[in-house]
Amino acid sequence: MYYPDALIEEVRLKNDIIDVVSAYVRIQKKGASHFGLCPFHNEKSPSFSVSGARQMYYCFGCGAGGNVFTFIMEYENFSFPEAIKLLAEKAGVALPELEFSEEARKKENKRARILEINKEAAKYFYYQLRSERGKTAHNYLLKRDLSEETIKNFGLGYAAINSDELINYLKSKGYEETLVIEAGLASFNERTGTKGKFWNRIIFPIQDLNHRVVGFGGRVMGEGEPKYLNSPETIVFDKSRNLYGLNFARTSRKNHLIICEGYIDVISLHQAGFTQAVASLGTAFTAGQANLLRRYTEEVILAYDNDEAGEKAILRAITILKECGLTGRVLDLSPYKDPDDFIKEKGKDAFAARLDEAENSFFYEISTLEKNFNQNDPEQKTRFHREIAGKLCNFAEDAERDNYLEAICKKYNIGFDNLRKLTLNYATRTGLAKPISRPKSGMKDKMSREDHARKAERLLLTWLSEEPLLYGRIRKYLTVDDFSSELYQKAAAKLFDGFEKNASEPAAIISLFTDEDEHREIAAIFNTRLNELNNAGEREKAFNDILRTVKKNSHENLTARLGTDVGALAQALESRKILDELMKLSIKIN
Ligand code: GTP
Ligand code: MN
Repeated sequence: MYYPDALIEEVRLKNDIIDVVSAYVRIQKKGASHFGLCPFHNEKSPSFSVSGARQMYYCFGCGAGGNVFTFIMEYENFSFPEAIKLLAEKAGVALPELEFSEEARKKENKRARILEINKEAAKYFYYQLRSERGKTAHNYLLKRDLSEETIKNFGLGYAAINSDELINYLKSKGYEETLVIEAGLASFNERTGTKGKFWNRIIFPIQDLNHRVVGFGGRVMGEGEPKYLNSPETIVFDKSRNLYGLNFARTSRKNHLIICEGYIDVISLHQAGFTQAVASLGTAFTAGQANLLRRYTEEVILAYDNDEAGEKAILRAITILKECGLTGRVLDLSPYKDPDDFIKEKGKDAFAARLDEAENSFFYEISTLEKNFNQNDPEQKTRFHREIAGKLCNFAEDAERDNYLEAICKKYNIGFDNLRKLTLNYATRTGLAKPISRPKSGMKDKMSREDHARKAERLLLTWLSEEPLLYGRIRKYLTVDDFSSELYQKAAAKLFDGFEKNASEPAAIISLFTDEDEHREIAAIFNTRLNELNNAGEREKAFNDILRTVKKNSHENLTARLGTDVGALAQALESRKILDELMKLSIKIN
């Protein structure tokens, strides 16, 4: 760990979670907690709760949760120490400088080192572009109408012909070769040894939301295969959760964002003043990216290449946007091939006009569909109308569906009643209009026995954390080993330890773990409650059931290990005894 636990705790206590979250999400007090729309998944009614008393947040929709540190980690895409730094600064807590001590340096985690390597590499590429050998590359960029200022803003660079140079340079700065490989800047192969990934290419550093270089794209100058080489995914580079240009676009304050395909498109749009443009990273647009965009806008304009691949990509992106609750519109670039081309030929005013005219994504889908059917053939025309009816069924709201129905009828000159009947037919045949779709991450399917046990363990820990007095009544029946996973055991150990010392706070327990996923799980451990328990009798029964379920599962796990684990027999006998006892009595909870 980087900082002493006490210091981390001080930073946490000085940053009230309500204040911190309010700076990012609109939340309102309702009962004991604040509620708002979850920034981590798409939703229309608030299931994101923030508790001032517990200093934790939790989303009942998607399961995101944790303390102030977790929130900053998730929202800003920060590591744990980075979140600590940000909040310490906010609260005026001085943190010890770690950079200079040799010991701290050794402890520094890989993630931070790889970010440093990326930064060094970006600087190296940047200076190469300005050196004598970067002349051709530099001229190439100027020839593509990029200004010096733009080249600087995006930190564009050049990878020299000799790819060993960068590796040697990084090594001279103290970075191990293995780490350079892990950063994706080099690869090892037995025949050739370690070789740099990029050589003789224009370099586009890829930055995350906080302007930190997480990867690189490299383009050949002129023709050549492959046209682009992109960094592989690394521990700091998740392609499905980053977008090129979003670090600038997120503060563009427009009412929409533009997605295009290429790095150059983004750069040339920004240069023309359209700073709301982003691109995916050489891979297809993902739901993770859509959710990221949802934090900043409700409307996304697709400005993909004007070709067949672009059309396919648009249709896929429309589906994803819809599933994530974003409105999509499609920009017409014809007769030009991409946004960069368009701007070059027609200028920014013409592009702004096209933005205004961008077509609603539903109409776009229908007009792509139209091309598949010969409208002069009655048979095919009917099939076209049936397809439209099918698509109309995807609207969950009647009013919305009717509005689209009306607009489509006008546009394609179809009788309103006819299309409406087709739509109703389609809906009945396929089991009516689709229910409102929920985000996939929040879906909970059938629960296995294990899930049940986990849930009971969570319920028990939440319950105990809220009513610590109960711990005294059950401690002789329950041990940390009754919990089924290492993480739960750790969380339980910390909680029980706190009970023994009369000081236990779940939000503080979270800070003892460094990883974002662990934060999430622990937040869930302490935020699982049963709804609708009306009276004391029901509550008592529920509590005892939960305790028995945990104990029973633990006993079954022990029995399963009987053949292989010598210690298990004694433990199993003991747990059988306790279980029998628990079945007979009912622990009072009031
Ligand atoms: P220009 O052709 O220079 O205008 O670049 P562009 O950015 O417009 O590229 P293009 O439209 O051809 O491609 C869009 C994006 O797809 C690029 O920015 C890359 O991220 C990715 N891409 C293109 N070609 C390749 C390739 O050969 N390999 C990989 N991995 N990705 C590619
Ligand atoms: Mn292009």
